Amino acid sequence: MDIHNPTYVPGHKLLDGKSVLITAAAGAGIGYSAAKRAIEEGCRGIVISDIHEGRLEQAVTGLKEETGCEEVYGLICNVAVEDDVQALIAFAEDKLQGVDVLINNAGLGTSKNLVDMEDPEWFKVIDVTLNGTMRMTRHMMKVMRDRGNGGVIVNNASVLGWRAQREQSHYAAAKAGVMALTRCAALEAAEFGVRINAVSPSLAVHPMLKKSCPEELLAELEGKEAYGRGAEVWEVANIMMFLASDYSSYLTGEIISCSSQRS
Ligand SMILES: NC(=O)c1ccc[n+]([C@@H]2O[C@H](COP(=O)([O-])OP(=O)(O)OC[C@H]3O[C@@H](n4cnc5c(N)ncnc54)[C@H](O)[C@@H]3O)[C@@H](O)[C@H]2O)c1
Repeated sequence: MDIHNPTYVPGHKLLDGKSVLITAAAGAGIGYSAAKRAIEEGCRGIVISDIHEGRLEQAVTGLKEETGCEEVYGLICNVAVEDDVQALIAFAEDKLQGVDVLINNAGLGTSKNLVDMEDPEWFKVIDVTLNGTMRMTRHMMKVMRDRGNGGVIVNNASVLGWRAQREQSHYAAAKAGVMALTRCAALEAAEFGVRINAVSPSLAVHPMLKKSCPEELLAELEGKEAYGRGAEVWEVANIMMFLASDYSSYLTGEIISCSSQRS
């Protein structure tokens, strides 16, 4: 494998027979890639959700066409809304006859110096990124506990939960919160056989990110990576699959960095 020009890795049936639920999976980034990867890894059915209705429909169709899998379902869900979260988990439990794997991918960022930050911008980023992950995790844990046959939750954090970057105090605080939530919830979930881990990407480049990130900043961030490039979104999805699969059975409460960043 050429680290500068990686080739797409074929599926290895890591999720054979499991069912999967993924939030924020209708974009061009990690969420959709994780959904495709989960199907390629043999999952028996998948529910994807997103806040964006039009793109969600396209994503369901796209996944069916790309993979040939018919067991793909979609439901609109804004993870910042408790009723949406409860409805999504009930829908997925019904369609999939039980969710084995939840991937909490939803996260939101903007760029703003702290001194210029108004409360609504701060709260929105925290509410989607941290509170949304908490809402999904809390409700899914309850359902998995009551069902009594285990389960796995994979959260999407960010290296900014560990590292500083200008104009990212809200997003970094939220992602540090996702990491802490992962560790604490995992301790409680272990009591009923549920594992919770997180992946922590540094930079995963995709068309929507390229559109929203100034060229100079993107080049600076890519320059900080030891490989001189950001990750392909499927390279992050691959780590999610490891965390979702039984290969990581002795791993819980861990944050796995997906980064080639120099310290
Ligand atoms: N791309 C990166 O470089 C990078 C780096 C570190 C962490 N992350 C994290 O990875 C996750 C995925 O990001 P991505 O850049 O790969 O894009 P993505 O395509 O996986 O996710 C974007 C999607 O999120 C949806 N979304 C936005 N707000 C939502 C809400 N309130 N409820 C439900 N869905 C919502 C959008 O409609 C969009 O379709 C995020 O949590 C992000 O913080 C990304």
